[in-house]
Amino acid sequence: MITGRPLFTTEQIRDKVVELAGTMSVDYEGKEILALGILKGALIFFADIIRALKLPVTVDFFVASSYVKTVSTGDISTYYEPREAIKGKNVLLIDDIIDTGISLDRIRENILSQSPASLKICVLLDKKERRVKEVPLDYVGFNIPDQFVVGYGLDYENRYRNLPYIAVFKKEN
Ligand code: IMP
Ligand code: MG
Repeated sequence: MITGRPLFTTEQIRDKVVELAGTMSVDYEGKEILALGILKGALIFFADIIRALKLPVTVDFFVASSYVKTVSTGDISTYYEPREAIKGKNVLLIDDIIDTGISLDRIRENILSQSPASLKICVLLDKKERRVKEVPLDYVGFNIPDQFVVGYGLDYENRYRNLPYIAVFKKEN
């Protein structure tokens, strides 16, 4: 079940998206970005970020999963990889949340092996204390403690992705 009031409201998330995309638009000025989203979790954040960018953008996705209920299995399955050529592109990798870092580390290695011109990583949420693999992050929305969260793309068993805010999720006993 969803507990208490939102951890981040729709307004807080909207302001953060504008702030992050503003910084990116300056950092990448004069360049074109290949934005790569990691589905399904990043779907809403990805859609909001790319619409707030003042830059030419092409898009593609990874579809990957590691979570069973609220536990990271550390075993990443990738169901789809970008069909867009990565070589020579300025890649901006976008995910909803970094937890152990295992998924992003794996996907980062995959991208780097394809010789992009540059690679930057953006996550909305960072659960720092859970990190197993260090991953260099360029854009971070919010740091959060070790709590399982849902909404704004994040799920529990594929539910709650459509909540327009982010809330803490607790399993019912
Ligand atoms: P990692 O490989 O442990 O860093 O896991 C990353 C992925 O697990 C994220 O991209 C999310 O899709 C999912 N995940 C991690 N923590 C949460 C959470 O609190 N709620 C929902 N999904 C999560
Ligand atoms: Mg994800």
